[in-house]
Amino acid sequence: MIDRDQIGLEKAHLRKYFDEVWKQCDNPWNFKAGNIIVKKKIEIIEPYAVSASSIIDLGCGGGEFMAALIGNRKPEIVFGVDISPKAVAKAETAGVFNRLIAADINDALESINRTFDLVLLNEVLYYQKDYRALVQNVAARLAAPNSVIFIALAIGPKFLSERDGKSVMSLFPASKWRLEKKARVGYTFKKIPLRFVFWKKFSQTHKLILIYRKMQ
Ligand SMILES: C[S@@+](CC[C@H](N)C(=O)[O-])C[C@H]1O[C@@H](n2cnc3c(N)ncnc32)[C@H](O)[C@@H]1O
Repeated sequence: MIDRDQIGLEKAHLRKYFDEVWKQCDNPWNFKAGNIIVKKKIEIIEPYAVSASSIIDLGCGGGEFMAALIGNRKPEIVFGVDISPKAVAKAETAGVFNRLIAADINDALESINRTFDLVLLNEVLYYQKDYRALVQNVAARLAAPNSVIFIALAIGPKFLSERDGKSVMSLFPASKWRLEKKARVGYTFKKIPLRFVFWKKFSQTHKLILIYRKMQ
């Protein structure tokens, strides 16, 4: 994990930072489809992906997660957005996206004039200075009634806190959104979940996974 101290970046620094990250390595977060956390995330989101004919992945990286998620299925639209052109170039080779753009998510929202069945904010929010505003913008522009938003947040001493997770949840009022799933996918130390181990050397203890469905 090369970026654990790089959370909450100002917009002006995001592109420079991620360009550099992607220049140094073409698998910066050491993605492995067989990783237990990845497998659990996919298990959670797959039922929604199977029935989605349009999917957008905001902060898609090199497309590895999307490739692992949709496999050989061919949803009508699989849209990827990443701030790093290098990431987008790699995502092109993943063979799963039929639309990709290299842009900051907020900027991309200005030009994407449609909604999606499934919207992914997977391991991307904590880099944003104003991640709450980003979530609101994404929810307002990309979700129609019945759309599903999947959010994965790293929680731990060097990432977000459970309280930050709650503040994200407060952006989805029960009058408009149904919480389909809230899960904690944890790292363990000697079989003990890290979130119960108060040894602050860990940068993250678990992922908080949230799935919301927009109501009529
Ligand atoms: C930790 S990676 C996650 C990649 C992928 N979602 C996954 O879970 O495997 C975060 C990605 O988000 C991209 N990113 C960060 N901030 C962004 C922004 N404001 N707009 C678009 N992409 C962004 C980075 O370039 C990077 O590829």
